[in-house]
Amino acid sequence: MSGARLEVSGLGKNFRGLRAVHDVSFTVPAGAIHALIGPNGAGKTTIFNMIAGVHVPTVGTVSLDGRTISGLRPDKVCDAGVGRTFQIVRPFRGLSVLENVTIGALHRRPKLGEARGAAEAILQRLGLADRRHHPAESLTLPDRKRLEVARALATEPKLLLLDEVMAGLRPTEVDVMVGFLRELNAETGLTILLIEHVMRAVMALAAHVVVVSYGDKIAEGTPAEITRHQAVLDVYLGEEEVA
Ligand SMILES: Nc1ncnc2c1ncn2[C@@H]1O[C@H](COP(=O)(O)OP(=O)(O)O)[C@@H](O)[C@H]1O
Ligand SMILES: [Mg+2]
Repeated sequence: MSGARLEVSGLGKNFRGLRAVHDVSFTVPAGAIHALIGPNGAGKTTIFNMIAGVHVPTVGTVSLDGRTISGLRPDKVCDAGVGRTFQIVRPFRGLSVLENVTIGALHRRPKLGEARGAAEAILQRLGLADRRHHPAESLTLPDRKRLEVARALATEPKLLLLDEVMAGLRPTEVDVMVGFLRELNAETGLTILLIEHVMRAVMALAAHVVVVSYGDKIAEGTPAEITRHQAVLDVYLGEEEVA
């Protein structure tokens, strides 16, 4: 037993012959912010889906605080303390921003008034309070990304999985989200694993970075170590800047 909040061990996923993820292992200690990076199609979202119970791993295990959670249904993984956002944002259409977050909060607070109160507090912190009665689908992309984070936080996770929540944000908006996540981590000790292409955010937030390419983990280390790692530079060559 490692004592890690999240331990991913020998994780693999095949989709009808396509090896999306192969023998990936890493840990995230309680209270840490780590990042998972890699080119498009590397298997990052598939790793999140295995952690969150959307996909059963072909091989390997996922554990949270030493308890195996792989193979559990998504709602049971959520009960265990894993909150996640979706790369393709998918709020409940026809519901307001507040109602969307309240649904998340109802997971642990069955009384509607309490759930709504918790949702209001989260929206306040994420700068969405003034839009709480707007229909979720009326939000701009950056606000929909914030709403995704709010919905995940409302389930009161121990581990928050963020799938490209900075995508489409302007640099100043990235800085706001980075500041918010930092504050949340410092104040509540929430453990965060983020998939992120915006290296400015990875550098600012993550103590440790895991790099995947074609389903394999090819490197891990501090952000500074990663940007000097030859295998990492090679996979990113021609794709985008790592630093
Ligand atoms: N549900 C699925 N069925 C079949 N193939 C999938 C499925 N999900 C992902 N894949 C494939 O697995 C590979 C990794 O995808 P993904 O995990 O989304 O990569 P990333 O998030 O790193 O961009 C890709 O080749 C993708 O097409
Ligand atoms: Mg993805």
